[in-house]
Amino acid sequence: TLSIDEISSALKKVGLDSVPQEPNTYPALNPFDIYRSHITELLAKQTGIDASTIYKTLAWTAKPENGDLQMAVPALRIKGKDMKEFAKEVAENFPESPIVERPVVNGTWVGFFFKPAALTSLVLPQILKAGPSYGFNPNLGLKDPSDPSAGRKKVIVEFSSPNIAKPFHAGHLRSTIIGGFLGNLYEGAGWEVIRMNYLGDWGKQYGVLAVGFDKFGSEAELEQNPIGHLYDVYVKISKISHDEGEAAKALKAEIAKLKEEGKDASAQEAELKKIEEEGVDQQARNYFKRMVDGEPTALGIWKKFRDLSIVKYKETYARLNIRYDEYSGESQVKDESMDEAARIMQEKGVSEDSEGAVIVDLTKYSKKLGKAIIKKKDGTSLYLTRDIGAAWERYQKYHFDKMIYVVASQQDLHLAQLFKIQEAMGRKEVADKCQHINFGMVLGMSTRKGTAKFLDDILRDVGEKMHEVMRSNEDKYRQVEDPEKTADTLGISAVMVQDMKGKRINNYNFDMDRMCSFEGDTGPYLQYAHARLNSIERKAKAAVPDLPEDLSTADFSLLKEQHAVEVVRQLASWPDVFLNTIKTQEPTTVLMYLFKMSHMVSSSYDHLQVVGSDREVMIARLALYKAAKQVLNNGMRLLGLSPVERM
Ligand code: ARG
Repeated sequence: TLSIDEISSALKKVGLDSVPQEPNTYPALNPFDIYRSHITELLAKQTGIDASTIYKTLAWTAKPENGDLQMAVPALRIKGKDMKEFAKEVAENFPESPIVERPVVNGTWVGFFFKPAALTSLVLPQILKAGPSYGFNPNLGLKDPSDPSAGRKKVIVEFSSPNIAKPFHAGHLRSTIIGGFLGNLYEGAGWEVIRMNYLGDWGKQYGVLAVGFDKFGSEAELEQNPIGHLYDVYVKISKISHDEGEAAKALKAEIAKLKEEGKDASAQEAELKKIEEEGVDQQARNYFKRMVDGEPTALGIWKKFRDLSIVKYKETYARLNIRYDEYSGESQVKDESMDEAARIMQEKGVSEDSEGAVIVDLTKYSKKLGKAIIKKKDGTSLYLTRDIGAAWERYQKYHFDKMIYVVASQQDLHLAQLFKIQEAMGRKEVADKCQHINFGMVLGMSTRKGTAKFLDDILRDVGEKMHEVMRSNEDKYRQVEDPEKTADTLGISAVMVQDMKGKRINNYNFDMDRMCSFEGDTGPYLQYAHARLNSIERKAKAAVPDLPEDLSTADFSLLKEQHAVEVVRQLASWPDVFLNTIKTQEPTTVLMYLFKMSHMVSSSYDHLQVVGSDREVMIARLALYKAAKQVLNNGMRLLGLSPVERM
């Protein structure tokens, strides 16, 4: 990153004697901060209005033709003036500035354009010096910005959270992608991030699974392909359990009928008894009870399932650049935590008995929240009970400032209940720090071999599709070094970008052809844009071997063309896009920017050739493209993509 001294001397060169810096701004990290502060200083002097008021009214523009920043004059809250007149007055009296043009007036809006030459010579070195950190701001996560020794804020991002022995469905896919992005986002803002995977690994179904493994399992297959094998076992044993259930139902009906007719039903009764006492369901219940009681053999088998599954999950997550700090799960929630919560809820009158079960009636807070069961008649805990205990345990362990649950909107009610219950039982401090980041559904997600079951299947399939697309251009294909690996990376980008393109809450169609296309706003398009910028640098170096390594000292006054200026304006706004993304917590905020910026870069190629231009022009243009590649790279990594150098 540039030091404040370097920024100061860069500003001197363009004619500004001091570094404009309003409170909580970062001129060395964000060019827009310089401009906002500078305009604020000038306007405060000129109008006598308080600097903090002015600063807040300087907003981004939706269209570049409105300026780089604009001010809604009515927001200055000056009484007794005609706002249109005042806007004109503000613009007319705006003093000469070395870095900002004469303001333009549009109704009650005043628009400010940055002077291109100054902007270019400030921003490009800033990007080239900051490199992979350009746009990010580690100060934002400081507990106390004026005292770094006070430490960083802490956030838990809980995401993905699949269920062992069950398919990895679209909800888990989206949670993985969005959660990975959110972890990076907070890290970029200097927070301490704890990535947590809360596995669905507890409940009677794990008794079912163990019983099934006894019948159908194979140790060898378990070692080889734990996730797939456990799923197969689960499907087989569930079928038996289902059939037994049906048989029991039929028997009951038959017994009732026989009795009504006064006939002997003892044979049927014996059969029913056999199912009820020895069937899969009862065996599973017994088994799960042994797990709950902490019986070592039962727990040992279950732990093996869990451990082997985690090994496999880790490999798959690594392909998406995701690593967890903690694999927790429903099984890890301590009985004591749940007992304590139950006691508090009872003492405070939050919970009540209802036909042997324990419930919390949340309708008194809001009808929509309904009544939540927290303990079943047989005394066992539920999904919700475990979440109440887990949240408290995490708070004790991490003292987080924020905890994000990345879970599909199908579970809106569950999380709303969780948060409300915590509040009601006197844990408002925790509840206030919790946030549910939800998202819509993926429609029609299937692989070409059938309905998608596991993340690996999806990624493999999309990689194969991408490989086909790449092969359709033979010339190019031959130049790619490791086509399999590239296809894999492009496929992953395709899935991720399609997922992050719209607002989180929207549903979308899983459309393999669409997402794998190089045209339109797709993952492969972004990768292509990145690889192309990379190839410009490679070709220039090949053509002119003695090019300087450090391009930050290029003569930027040579970048006069409108196309160059437009690209620089885009690049200058990346740190602000990052800030905005922290507010929206939407990956689409980043993506829309990256597409816009890439389009602008791509339309400049014909106008700003590198190889073949005069040496100094060539160096300046190369600096521009290198800066563009850096920003694209930073944005892609924030999203969790792996930018490719060649394709
Ligand atoms: N395993 C759950 C499911 O697949 C998601 C867990 C979400 N997180 C939570 N703390 N409840 O539906």
